[in-house]
Amino acid sequence: MSKNVVVIGAGPAGYVCAIRLAQLGNQVTVVEKDALGGTCLNVGCIPSKALIAAGALLDKARHAETMGITFGTPKVDVGKLVEWKSAIVGKLTGGVGGLLKNHGCKVVRGDATFTGPKTVKVSGGADGDVTLTGDHIVIATGSVPINIPGFTCDEKDVWSSTGGLAPTEIPGHLVVIGGGYIGLELGMMYSKLGSKVTVLEASPGALPGQERDCVKVIERSLKKMKIEMLTKTFAKSWKKKGSKTVVSAEVDGKMREIECDQVLSTVGRRPFTEGLGLDKAGLAVNDRGFLEVDSQLRTKVPHIFAIGDVAGQPMLAHKGSKEGLVAAAVISGQPDEYDVRCVPAVIFTSPEMASVGLTEDQVKEKGLEYKTGSFPFAASGRAMSLMETDGFVKIISDAKTDEILGVHMVGPEVTELIAEATLAIEMGATVEDIARTIHAHPTLPEAMMEAAEAVHKMAVHIYQKP
Ligand code: NAI
Repeated sequence: MSKNVVVIGAGPAGYVCAIRLAQLGNQVTVVEKDALGGTCLNVGCIPSKALIAAGALLDKARHAETMGITFGTPKVDVGKLVEWKSAIVGKLTGGVGGLLKNHGCKVVRGDATFTGPKTVKVSGGADGDVTLTGDHIVIATGSVPINIPGFTCDEKDVWSSTGGLAPTEIPGHLVVIGGGYIGLELGMMYSKLGSKVTVLEASPGALPGQERDCVKVIERSLKKMKIEMLTKTFAKSWKKKGSKTVVSAEVDGKMREIECDQVLSTVGRRPFTEGLGLDKAGLAVNDRGFLEVDSQLRTKVPHIFAIGDVAGQPMLAHKGSKEGLVAAAVISGQPDEYDVRCVPAVIFTSPEMASVGLTEDQVKEKGLEYKTGSFPFAASGRAMSLMETDGFVKIISDAKTDEILGVHMVGPEVTELIAEATLAIEMGATVEDIARTIHAHPTLPEAMMEAAEAVHKMAVHIYQKP
């Protein structure tokens, strides 16, 4: 039976949910206060990857001499670079608008506020004041950058990722607060574009929570790139000194001042529910600001669903999109859920890092009997021809059943390679399944096959002591 559904937020969770709801025969209205596509398309995944690709190209050009190719010194026209990035964003957000329209989804512009459990008032946008009623309401309002005390992101002296993706010039010295996903992706990108970069990270190492073997490769790469990484460091305040900015930070217990040209604060994101009037719908966020949902993405008010960043970690676009598909199916009377073990994570550092399933620490915590196998890209002909031999593929498997529990990769194109591992875990594949699969030669995915062989001490292209 066709339902009347209101989706609040048109990011990768909300717009995907809306399109699937329409495909399943529902009447859909999407409310968006800003640009279609949300953080991902406008100020996140897509623009960052465009600029990161530009940085990688510059870096390749610098190292092409090893291949016998020389260029003049490459120059960066920041204006043109940002224009190119914005054109990609424009094409994609336009595409989302077209898709919503073609699927018959109505888009209403403005801020949505619950006025009751089934009604939402939209105001402040191009469409004036509108009241919408839904049999179901889907909350997909996403997240916003966290501001730490002393560092409110004004996008001028202190950038959030939004400012960091729209530079007017490349800063001489950039101080990045937070050595997580965004901090390292953008920090490495600015280093390639010519900035001196200092990263201030509160915890004892980069990328807390990620597989430590992989992080070690990234930490070595930071050193090679001459990016200074100060760990156990808390940024406290900043002041202007002429045209420079001076950041005061507590580094391993001692205060230190760092003079720079620009500050980028990337200390995490928090779910966004301000102004939604959740109480009017009978809802409240938990102590971390998330809306709690069951495995079908239902909040405690059964006809209201929450998906994407607002519904809990990990705050990843593809996790939000998957939740959008699940919620749309459930609303349409088709029970569905997804397996959280199958949410891959990809980090566009240099080299790239990617993982899916459990980390070795998590497997140990669960007390599981496990095996691991790794294959280094240094032994891959394809990686050599790309001049990108840092890193490896590591597979963790159940020692009793041979089932793949986790795959962690660092190295060339691993953000693409992780798809095979994700499919393997989704299908409950064993290590033997991967090892027996013929992988085309010469390609990077051969490293996945060899890592699988390595779990059984049968890798052909590395020597493993019997
Ligand atoms: P994050 O949680 O990855 O990293 C924040 C870092 O800041 C942590 O390492 C933390 O220890 C550090 N930190 C916190 N307070 C600090 C302080 N006062 N001084 C110094 N360090 C401090 O958050 P990030 O990088 O902002 O990313 C936000 C979200 O966006 C992530 O949850 C991630 O899932 C998502 N994202 C995903 C990407 C991808 O899929 N490739 C890329 C970028 C972001």
